[in-house]
Amino acid sequence: MSATGPGVDTHEMVLIHRVLRRELGQLSRLFRSAANDRARSKVVGAHAREMLDFLHTHHTGEDELLFPLLRERAPLDPELMDRMDAQHAQVDHAVAAIGAELPAWTAGADAAASERMADLVEAMMPTLIAHLAEEEHKLLPIVSVTVTQKEWDALGKHGMNAIPLKRRLVMLGHITEEADDAERLRFLHVVPAPARLAYNLIGRRQFTRETAKIRG
Ligand SMILES: [Fe+2]
Repeated sequence: MSATGPGVDTHEMVLIHRVLRRELGQLSRLFRSAANDRARSKVVGAHAREMLDFLHTHHTGEDELLFPLLRERAPLDPELMDRMDAQHAQVDHAVAAIGAELPAWTAGADAAASERMADLVEAMMPTLIAHLAEEEHKLLPIVSVTVTQKEWDALGKHGMNAIPLKRRLVMLGHITEEADDAERLRFLHVVPAPARLAYNLIGRRQFTRETAKIRG
């Protein structure tokens, strides 16, 4: 659905999904790369926490602000919605299991914990990838013609409010990293002008510096 066509422009969710695929997809490698390396586990651990929180917030927002509206208003395939719920639960379960190990691992870089967390990430990714793809292909077209702009914006605000202020510019870097010029313009358009300026002045550089350190 285009920004100018009928309905809500839901493409920003595709940009969010790219962050989830990219950053969570490389976590298993990062966990293993930091085994027995406490300087590195601090960096990777903080990044993992941020991305797991980002994923959790994304799913909570959908569970609370989006799926109920769809169920109420749209003729949906019940199997699809049951699958969406089951995938959310499965992913949340893995996020909780990784999250339980994360504080001790971040401080201590225990190699066995690196392996356990990497395995948990690898077991979770196929479900997450299938879930995001199905959501994009089957649900977003329905969302576009079912919710109002105000309701869609509330979902975006829910996601943004969950990101600590001092991390928002870096998250903007993540969200626009793989965007082409048109997508970047389209997304930055919904970002308040002062934040856009701050991103151009400092955020982009901070993002590049941080990710270089994280990715090693
Ligand atoms: Fe989503």
